[in-house]
Amino acid sequence: MSTGTSRVPRFGHGSRVPGWDEAVDLEKPPARIPDPAVTPVPELLREQIEAAMAKYPDRRSAAIPALHAAQELHGWCSPEAIDQVATVMQLTPAYLIAVATFYDMFKTLPQPRNDVYVCTNISCSLRGADEFFAAMREAADGEDIDVRSFECLGACDIAPMASVNGEYVGPLDFDDAGRIVEDLKAGHTVLEHKQLRYRRCADPEVATEAGEFSPPGADVPRADTAGLGEHGDTTDRPGGSAAIEIPTEEAGE
Ligand code: FES
Repeated sequence: MSTGTSRVPRFGHGSRVPGWDEAVDLEKPPARIPDPAVTPVPELLREQIEAAMAKYPDRRSAAIPALHAAQELHGWCSPEAIDQVATVMQLTPAYLIAVATFYDMFKTLPQPRNDVYVCTNISCSLRGADEFFAAMREAADGEDIDVRSFECLGACDIAPMASVNGEYVGPLDFDDAGRIVEDLKAGHTVLEHKQLRYRRCADPEVATEAGEFSPPGADVPRADTAGLGEHGDTTDRPGGSAAIEIPTEEAGE
């Protein structure tokens, strides 16, 4: 991909969640923990949230995986989704909204089903990410795909790269923009031959066996980027959840 010497726009695309600059509504009534009796929660979502809470001494530590599970189910962190998480976690919706609005990957407004996050930080930018981002937006125009630029996604070694529905792919070239759209529309695995998960180990003795990438299912070592071994972390570590904190006035003390 040609890089040339061009001006590198920084923060030009914006990555802030919608509403970050809106004033707080001081007229709103104080937030309350939703009443479980009138807030039905889908069984699978409840199980996912409870499993996440069981992993941490303080259940609030599970806010991010719980919100992810709700977003996966509802497509975004809708008021209904937030209320369901708040009901299971026994937190106020405001607490969860504060978390959801802090992180770019939580959707606080209805958005397209598919996400393509193009990294436009320095390593990717130097290898043509800004041009790829423009090509990706053009290719996805009118489709059910949210294309956004992101700061470093932590996979600079495959620059320029993108996260497609959470799957890291790279190095990308212009033609990949159209392929990503076609794969998403067809429900196919996206750019399988460029997925980070199938990238081979950096160990030179491993990498010389069959090229840089190994096909899915091939009997070769996988990248172990998290240091968890070839098969990842297969051990669950459930533990007790923190006690529910009830404000003293509500507890009648
Ligand atoms: S600069 Fe793009 S992944 Fe780091």
